[in-house]
Amino acid sequence: MTFENLLTTAENGIMTITINRPDKLNALNKKTVKEIGQAIKNAESDTTVKAIIITGSGQKSFVAGADISEFVGLSIEQGKALAQAGQNVFRSIETCSKPVVAAVNGFALGGGCELSMACHIRIASENVKFGQPEVNLGLIAGYGGTQRLIQYIGKTKATELHMTGDLINAEQALHLGLVNYVVPQDQLIATAVALLEKIKTKSPKAITGVINSVNAYFENNLDGFKAEIEEFGKCFATEDFKEGTTAFIEKRKANFTGK
Ligand code: COA
Repeated sequence: MTFENLLTTAENGIMTITINRPDKLNALNKKTVKEIGQAIKNAESDTTVKAIIITGSGQKSFVAGADISEFVGLSIEQGKALAQAGQNVFRSIETCSKPVVAAVNGFALGGGCELSMACHIRIASENVKFGQPEVNLGLIAGYGGTQRLIQYIGKTKATELHMTGDLINAEQALHLGLVNYVVPQDQLIATAVALLEKIKTKSPKAITGVINSVNAYFENNLDGFKAEIEEFGKCFATEDFKEGTTAFIEKRKANFTGK
């Protein structure tokens, strides 16, 4: 199957899904999110696929966030629908019965950080920058980021990163437990493949059991994802959101008024 914004390859049972919008630093427009969902569905049902790698095209960016140009003019309801659609696709990655590794090859911001966190394991190249900079747009994370960042690095640092929009580098991401490994960029895919080759020698049924059991630990907290959708939606009615997104598009600093 061919996609507009993804490249997919399969070798030795490992399917690699590459987000391919390098001109936009692989920003996730609606079409791309939908295609990721379809690619995961295909990988689930294809018995020759034993494991999945998700990465970004080029050397600069994994995914620089949701596509901000698509936010303009959305209503609260449309904002909530956008978050729900993104959360559904990212949940399908998290609950995929086959192991999914994010090979994070540069900027992993907003929806990019969220996409990497929906994967079971994260391997980062030395040039990565992770962050949830939505507050700079008068917005919050909407694709599960408020919940999963806490799961990985704890409430203390997660709250700070969501509030400041600060970016963290590879060393900090490793120190905080957001990523499993940091490697030079030219070894990124090879490291992901080597890890999955090891996992592939184990019982696929047992691996699915690990995925389901780890997910079950967090299942009592699903209300938080709903709260994120509500709060994400509300942002779309504020002046600050209009100012934040307009400022990004006009390539200037936002001037928030709290309205
Ligand atoms: N949505 C839409 N377009 C995006 C994007 C996003 N999230 N991130 C980057 N792009 C586009 C830029 O608009 C630019 O397009 P143009 O060449 O048509 O103007 C192109 O990708 C290259 O980005 P640019 O900003 O010129 O690169 P840079 O190296 O100067 O800066 C970033 C890189 C990642 C720091 C900067 O692009 C950025 O801050 N992106 C937004 C990050 C963000 O807020 N993500 C959360 C969204 S909810």
